[in-house]
Amino acid sequence: MPQAFTRDVVVVGGCGHVGLPLAIVLADRGLRVTAYDIDAAAAARIAAGSMPFDEPGAQPLLERTLASGALAVTTDPASVSTAEHVVVVIGTPVDEHLNPDPQAVPRAVEALMDRLRDGQLLVLRSTIYPGVTRLVEQAVARAGARVDVCFCPERIAEGRAIEELSSLPQIVAARDERVTERAARLFGTIARDIVRTSPEEAELAKLFTNTWRYIKFAAANQLYTIANDFGVDFERVRAAITHDYPRAADMPGAGFAAGPCLFKDTMQLAAFNNNQFTLGHASMLVNEGLPLYLVSRLERRHDLSSMSVGILGMAFKAESDDTRSSLAYKLKRILRYKAREVLCADANVRTDEGLVAEEELVRRADLVVIGAPHRRYAALPLRQPVVDVWNVRGQGVVV
Ligand SMILES: NC(=O)c1ccc[n+]([C@@H]2O[C@H](COP(=O)([O-])OP(=O)(O)OC[C@H]3O[C@@H](n4cnc5c(N)ncnc54)[C@H](O)[C@@H]3O)[C@@H](O)[C@H]2O)c1
Repeated sequence: MPQAFTRDVVVVGGCGHVGLPLAIVLADRGLRVTAYDIDAAAAARIAAGSMPFDEPGAQPLLERTLASGALAVTTDPASVSTAEHVVVVIGTPVDEHLNPDPQAVPRAVEALMDRLRDGQLLVLRSTIYPGVTRLVEQAVARAGARVDVCFCPERIAEGRAIEELSSLPQIVAARDERVTERAARLFGTIARDIVRTSPEEAELAKLFTNTWRYIKFAAANQLYTIANDFGVDFERVRAAITHDYPRAADMPGAGFAAGPCLFKDTMQLAAFNNNQFTLGHASMLVNEGLPLYLVSRLERRHDLSSMSVGILGMAFKAESDDTRSSLAYKLKRILRYKAREVLCADANVRTDEGLVAEEELVRRADLVVIGAPHRRYAALPLRQPVVDVWNVRGQGVVV
């Protein structure tokens, strides 16, 4: 019989963008949840009742679950021994040469091996390189731990985590039915629908989910450059195509396809496929190339070397405060080389001391490029030319 646990769930990486919303929502459903993390500053802030990043709807739930004791936050790895379910959702970035690290999650699990207890369910939730579930199963077996292992990928989008944790179907994957049903019971407390697969199917399902989206954005961005080079407003073409035409309803607008997931997961899949991923690599060229394309177009009309250029919005997407892998920063690097001065502003972002106030940017910039399509930019009075590839201002996107 499993030993009696004092907590239901411990989330390893529980102060992160994915771990914290999950911990909060599980706690809000009445489970006793511990968010365990190595980031002491984030843990202290969360324990004091403050979200370390923007996530709509999370703040009141955090306060409520902390106050009731349903949620606890700690940097003590001993917490891993206390819960029946151990959910691992640490970061799995690619390195500066775009190599994934298939050992990231196995290493974290190995480091906690002494803390694992018989009868626990170990849930891998990070986006992992295909085959990593098997590696973790083998490591657990080698250590002689009587712990069940499953992979239940997270598919929420930042900014919608609280709503999507319960509205999205949850993929649960394990080697046998008993463990699958155990994982299904855990996620059945929050998700409306459970999809059962094998671990390998789930590993590909998660990477395909993000890669599919990345390729769609690249397709739109390349069509944007074709229209733009022809002097035609892509948004008007898109509006014509999608008007009452369901087969094209999912055509995205143009814009920077960035952030901590889509690009790196496309590169994980490419590496997994021996770097034979034509569509994935082509998508990278288009999406990562968009800032340089915009600057090269701007150089045709403007003498950038004599201009102050403002980038309005530095987060990787609308309404976010997250700047991880934001292409607005790539744009900034290119413009710093080309323009007399580059001013960057984003009232959402609190992690960059190099930003200026929005008013200063608006006052001083000769040209403004929208770097993130925050809604408030739609009505912001701007006297200078504006490059708005996202069409947030609804005035066309020709550059
Ligand atoms: N951000 C998203 O929108 C999103 C969506 C779906 C899936 N994912 C995947 O979820 C995973 C986590 O992403 P994230 O954006 O939350 O990353 P994050 O960097 O915001 O959070 C990861 C957390 O793990 C902690 N951590 C790292 N190593 C640890 C260890 N050994 N023990 C305890 N804590 C540790 C970090 O301190 C951090 O707080 C990644 O695999 C990512 O691809 C992310």
